[in-house]
Amino acid sequence: MKHRAKSQKIYDALCKIIPGGVNSPVRSCKGMGQLPLIVEEGFGDIILDADGHQYIDFCGSWGALIHGHAHPIILSAVRKRLEKGTSFGIATALEGELAKEVVTLIDSIEKIRFVSTGTEATMSAVRLARGFTKKKLIVKFIGNYHGHADFFLTQAGSGVLELSRASSAGIPEDIVKHTLTLPYNDIEACSQVFSNPAISDQIAAVILEPIAGNMGVVPAEKSFLKYLSTETKRMGALLIFDEVITGFRVGMKGAQDHFSIQPDLTCFGKIIGGGFPAAAFGGRGDIMDYLAPLGPVYQAGTLSGNPIAMEAGLQSLRLLQEPHFYDHLQRKTDRLIKPIQEKIDQKGWNACIQQAGSMFTLFFGKKKVKNLVDAQETKGVVFTQFFKFMFEHGFYIPPSPHEAWFISAAHEDQHLDQTRDAILTFMEKAMPC
Ligand SMILES: Cc1ncc(COP(=O)(O)O)c(C=O)c1O
Repeated sequence: MKHRAKSQKIYDALCKIIPGGVNSPVRSCKGMGQLPLIVEEGFGDIILDADGHQYIDFCGSWGALIHGHAHPIILSAVRKRLEKGTSFGIATALEGELAKEVVTLIDSIEKIRFVSTGTEATMSAVRLARGFTKKKLIVKFIGNYHGHADFFLTQAGSGVLELSRASSAGIPEDIVKHTLTLPYNDIEACSQVFSNPAISDQIAAVILEPIAGNMGVVPAEKSFLKYLSTETKRMGALLIFDEVITGFRVGMKGAQDHFSIQPDLTCFGKIIGGGFPAAAFGGRGDIMDYLAPLGPVYQAGTLSGNPIAMEAGLQSLRLLQEPHFYDHLQRKTDRLIKPIQEKIDQKGWNACIQQAGSMFTLFFGKKKVKNLVDAQETKGVVFTQFFKFMFEHGFYIPPSPHEAWFISAAHEDQHLDQTRDAILTFMEKAMPC
């Protein structure tokens, strides 16, 4: 086992003054039954812990760091911007520059508003949808995660899944009673609800991850998305794509371009902030104009459009537009996962890799995962052994079987080959499972 005396000391001290020692539950590695990683610094595809151990990072700040850690262009632009003041709470031209990039790149976005976190983006998009449609109900899908606003915490994914609860304590039933939670990729279950006018007339919005990343990577079926697009129009509800993970990840124009489906509103986070706290929601101009100060839907934020985060986001999006960026990223991803998938097929192992662009999940004990029921039938015990094995060998993967791994442009071929070899070594020993 790695000697991590300094990390242990830091973690013990953290636990005394921060609940569970972390500022977001999944970081605690509770499900993995081991001391969490205490990170000191990151560069390229590497993170260094407090005891000086190196890890090749496949978490990438949960997908935010598509260019890797401490990218020199982002750093240099941020340094320059820091010299000019760090926060104003007043409009800047910079916000317009980032907004223009997004509006130009993504067809469904006519107007956009910046916030600081993905949670704020989804929460505000739903409020806007309710204000615009003057209806109450929202529909979400089991195993999709949209941040931690009260009304989303019913059968959510990500860290909420790890807590094994249908919902969090502290949320009155009165709040979640306006959230209908349906099975993902299940047209029949939806049509039973949508065909009842007493319900469908009250639906303000249907929100989903078009490629789920919070029960492991589980893409929606195109027919399912098409159905939702048609039905929301018919019901007079809005279709909201939560592209907090998939936006700028599965391609420059996100999952909506991949599936050729235009939502009414889209939520962004992670990559749009270039590693700083920025997120956004945007869409049809007539809907967005319902926001204050133009319209009656209130939404605000002291640090919204923060100039440092805007600068980092702008640089991040510009780097993505370099020729063949996504082809290179795909090549790197394939270099790691194709040989593993081939070995799984060749040996007939009960496992699978589900991928969307440069995000993927390796599931143990299932050949295909279509929804949360499938994801929960995967072998958690094997995953825990796998996580520990990878950790000991210097690879940091998300500490849960129900999360996505992320490849960045900074992943070096040699590191990807080492990772592939480590995964295959583990699987040779652990399979069949
Ligand atoms: C799809 C999705 N939506 C929303 C969020 C919430 O974003 P944040 O953690 O920035 O509040 C997340 C976070 O992982 C996410 O994956």
